[in-house]
Amino acid sequence: MEMRFVNRVSKSHVLTLPCRMAKGFLRGFICKKWLKMDLVTWNAQYSIGIDELDEHHRHLIFLLNKIYDVFVNEASAWDLAQVFDALTDYAQHHFTAEESLMQKWDYPDFNTHRILHNQFVKRLKEKREIVCNCNHRFAFELLAFLNSWMLSHILNADAKFGKFLAVKKCASSAESVGRSLIFSPRT
Ligand SMILES: [Fe+2]
Ligand SMILES: [Fe+2]
Repeated sequence: MEMRFVNRVSKSHVLTLPCRMAKGFLRGFICKKWLKMDLVTWNAQYSIGIDELDEHHRHLIFLLNKIYDVFVNEASAWDLAQVFDALTDYAQHHFTAEESLMQKWDYPDFNTHRILHNQFVKRLKEKREIVCNCNHRFAFELLAFLNSWMLSHILNADAKFGKFLAVKKCASSAESVGRSLIFSPRT
């Protein structure tokens, strides 16, 4: 059964015709504006300074905007499930890449960070079970949850790893420059 997500304005018999026309015009105007807008726009504050992971985060935000798009365009539960599954798959792919980079650089907060990823994936799987029985309220809750978790995770936990890696790479390049100065023959 097709589910509709956008809350339809009930047609009240109390409204006069001019009022209804004004309301319809306003609603059409707002909807047209919404249809063209993204929920989140990528900007420099979301960059953690690691190109590969920044690209992944960009794609996750793109998928979040697709879910928002499904919501404002009154798409079906099937459409929501498709894009929700795409986000779940890509999130897991991204977490694997991010965690292997953390292990490679001996990131001290690796275990805590991995727990955050695992908890998120678990929440997504729980929500997948009810995604097909969604209603307007559920779609709002899903969007709010994804929006707040993803942005807060990128801006805090991932950004912390970005800073750690910048310092670590700086120290290791300074170390290699020092070594080359010690071992290079004097002219
Ligand atoms: Fe992360
Ligand atoms: Fe991340």
